[in-house]
Amino acid sequence: DEELVAKGEKVFKKCKACHQVGEGAKNKTGPVLTGIVGAPVGVVEGFKYSKPMAALGEAGAVWGEGELSAFLAKPKAYLKGTKMSFAGLKKEQEIAAVLEYLKSVQ
Ligand code: HEM
Repeated sequence: DEELVAKGEKVFKKCKACHQVGEGAKNKTGPVLTGIVGAPVGVVEGFKYSKPMAALGEAGAVWGEGELSAFLAKPKAYLKGTKMSFAGLKKEQEIAAVLEYLKSVQ
């Protein structure tokens, strides 16, 4: 729903230091996140992933909502050795909101 999307857009400010989404988005410190919900792991063109994230992708992993929720709660615990230097989102509500936002941007 729209309210959750709006909340998620605010939460996404925490991600914007490293990630872009939507029209004209470019890889920065992190890969472009347009269409990431339901996408395969580690396939953004032109982005150099860490070895563990590249390996997860090669193993066929997909960013379903469950996987994204677990990763965003504690990135370094979910994937040892990831180069995403982000402590994680503490509240489940923030995670749900940011996923709604990510699903809303094309
Ligand atoms: C990777 C989401 C915050 C840097 C990723 C991936 C997702 C993601 C889904 C995997 C992308 C893929 O498989 O193509 C988010 C969200 C954030 C956030 C939703 C905010 C809540 C940040 C911040 C930074 C960052 C603040 C930089 C300090 C990176 C990097 C990678 C990555 C470097 C690649 C990781 C690797 O290769 O191990 N992020 N991120 N992210 N993110 Fe973030």
